[in-house]
Amino acid sequence: MRPGDSLMKHFLQIKDLRAEEYAYLFERTRIVKTRFKNYERYQPLVDRTLAMIFEKASTRTRVSFEAGMYQMGGSVLNLTTSDTQLGRAEPVEDTARVISRMVDIVMIRTYEQTKIERFAAHSRVPVINGLTNEYHPCQILADVYTYIEHRGARGGDADPLRCLRGKVVAWVGDGNNMANTWLQAAEVLGFTVHVSTPSGYEVDPAVAGIRDTNCYKVFNHPLEACAGAHLVTTDVWTSMGYEAENEERRKAFVDWCVDEEMMAVAQPDALFMHCLPAHRGEEVTAEVIDGPQSVVWDEAENRMHVQKALMEYLLLGRIG
Ligand code: CP
Ligand code: NVA
Repeated sequence: MRPGDSLMKHFLQIKDLRAEEYAYLFERTRIVKTRFKNYERYQPLVDRTLAMIFEKASTRTRVSFEAGMYQMGGSVLNLTTSDTQLGRAEPVEDTARVISRMVDIVMIRTYEQTKIERFAAHSRVPVINGLTNEYHPCQILADVYTYIEHRGARGGDADPLRCLRGKVVAWVGDGNNMANTWLQAAEVLGFTVHVSTPSGYEVDPAVAGIRDTNCYKVFNHPLEACAGAHLVTTDVWTSMGYEAENEERRKAFVDWCVDEEMMAVAQPDALFMHCLPAHRGEEVTAEVIDGPQSVVWDEAENRMHVQKALMEYLLLGRIG
């Protein structure tokens, strides 16, 4: 794929790709991860450059994209608002036009989704959303892959999405970027999200960008949302950019802490996930996040493997 190619795709939200493209990506992830684990060199992106623009802090996103791109033979530029002219009000459209003439793919973590959309509209190369106020699609890619890895057929499946159908994901906490992205994934991949948030922090289907409101159900009490769930997941009470609301949120969210009682009403083999960073004693107890049902470390590692498959797909199309 070359810059400006009419087949060029961006990954700005989950609904940018179709279910069959996710099935392909998850199968590629399995292959790319197996090669990595076997110390097999796989460098399809030699001479390709990834530019990462961070307007918010990051540990996992930065390390997973940077390590993943180097493993595939490419190079990485790490840019922030303060060390670029973005911090001195250069328009995002001009920044996109310039950067995308020099690199092959761009990852952006920023505030409003509209900003990344404006960047993508003026970019000659694929743009990946590394988190916005509204969505975190790379994280959900990793979370769904982690579910497939733990609960799908051993050694892969001709249809990796099969194990997701009819399953229930319990979302406990803020109706934030992660919650919105789970809803989109449910609509595209065919599972259901049981959502419980404190009053005033509900998910908004318009912001979540879903058409089919049957893909989620709302519960007042988090225990009701967790009942019978195959996966229980949560996130921080205060997301990046909302720190001024910290005290107010601490009070509102006090009953939305995933604990052993919530895990006990879920399926006996339910998994626990958290995108991290986590605050033990706030949105999750130490017993749950450090307990036997938690797969948070696999989930974090899988960010790198799914993103390698994603970059391969956006730059090279289907392999083979
Ligand atoms: N989960 C996640 O995106 O982590 P970072 O904020 O550390 O990148
Ligand atoms: N909802 C969190 C996710 C962090 C990875 C935030 O936006 O800060």
